Amino acid sequence: MKLSKNTGTLFLLTGLGLFFASIIFGFLASIIYQYPEFLKDSLGLIKLRPMHVSAALFWILVAATGAIYKSLAILTKKDSYPLLQKIHWGLWIFSLLGIFYCYATGNFGGREYWEYPPVFAIPIGLAWLLFLLIFFLKVKSIKKWPVYVWMWMTGIVYFLFIFIENYFWVIPYFRESFIKDMVIQWKAAGSIVGAYNMLVYGSVFFIMERISKKAHTGFNKWAFALFFLSFFNMLFNWGHHLYLVPTNASIHYAGYIVSMTEWVFFIKIIYNWKKQVTEAEAFYHYYPYRFILAFNFWLFFNLTLALFMSIPVINLYMHGTHFITAHAMGTTIGINTMILLAALFFFLVPKKEHHQSQLLNTGFWGIQISLLVFLLSLMAMGFVKSIWFFEEPQAQFAEMMARMKPFTLLFIFSGFSLFLSFLGVISGFVFMLFKKHP
Ligand code: HEM
Repeated sequence: MKLSKNTGTLFLLTGLGLFFASIIFGFLASIIYQYPEFLKDSLGLIKLRPMHVSAALFWILVAATGAIYKSLAILTKKDSYPLLQKIHWGLWIFSLLGIFYCYATGNFGGREYWEYPPVFAIPIGLAWLLFLLIFFLKVKSIKKWPVYVWMWMTGIVYFLFIFIENYFWVIPYFRESFIKDMVIQWKAAGSIVGAYNMLVYGSVFFIMERISKKAHTGFNKWAFALFFLSFFNMLFNWGHHLYLVPTNASIHYAGYIVSMTEWVFFIKIIYNWKKQVTEAEAFYHYYPYRFILAFNFWLFFNLTLALFMSIPVINLYMHGTHFITAHAMGTTIGINTMILLAALFFFLVPKKEHHQSQLLNTGFWGIQISLLVFLLSLMAMGFVKSIWFFEEPQAQFAEMMARMKPFTLLFIFSGFSLFLSFLGVISGFVFMLFKKHP
């Protein structure tokens, strides 16, 4: 395999490196939950948390970019603008090296989820602008756009918009008004997820269409209906991030109503499920297909959680507890990571007959089971904390921590098992990548 053949490959493998870093940092961070002295003098949770979260977010962005470049090369039957793509990759590498160096040396200065010094937003912003340009240059030869091209386009444009909005706080006019600052910050945190989901969802539609040609996913009217719904959600569903901010009430109501429209996803998923089960028998051995089925399950799981969290009174109880961590990790692992793992196998180990491995089978099931226990233990921790928060008379903090202990241990244990299972899948993948096939 020639790694330099397509810049999409470079992006996918860089993404895999970030994913690997993210699970190592995440595992180390989880130990600190129970043993606060662990690595206190070197890294500590102060450094490990942003390292873990940034590596996880960058894995999604960088690998999704790789999947889009790979898909466009297949769609347009040529790999155009290779130099521009390499510059794009170079800008990312420059930003990543700078950001992780700053974290390692304790140089922060950013805001939640983007805690690196804000100056690195410039090369990332430029990389994204270049991505936008390359994307439009590449797709201009496609006459009738399938749904996934629309998804990528809206995701790329909207990401740039929100990424800039996310940095409004560096301007004193926004930073100096507490409410204005908070509304923009939380709105940006909510909508940026919608933007990168578009990139990832577009990629899964492309892969699904290629796996099962009969499905015609690209021009299916249901797929377009889902696209418009996700687009609508991407624009407006951030309202539920602002329940606790004393802003105009209509924003809260609109956020709630829009979040509820996502029930339509449920109906669609159940409707499709039966068909997928019969297809699953034919494709089950093929890893991209298996990861897509897993994504479907986690989409269902996370939407249930998110819909309950959108109900204002429940939101009030869950706010500031590990429920939010469960929501963030449940979606980034269960939804984005499952799709991107499918993309890694689909684009880099394309032949179906190569997809047989005991290590991968064990890793795959290890991930699904550990992730369920991992998320349930986080939710249980969140539940214990919110009961404590509202109880009368309130017990001592130490008493609350003691109540939480069994769930904390379960969280660490399942986190370790999740980490090992991911390692199994990564090693199985690397082995397939470098194995000489006849
Ligand atoms: C391998 C097992 C993993 C372990 C043990 C782990 C552990 C942790 C820990 C301890 C935190 C800090 C939570 C806090 O501040 O209280 C965290 C946060 C987070 N993790 Fe992981 N993690 C793992 C894998 C992942 C993966 C694969 C992703 C995504 C690709 C991910 C995404 C996140 C995100 C987005 C947050 C921030 C959550 C928030 O908003 O509070 N994690 N993780």
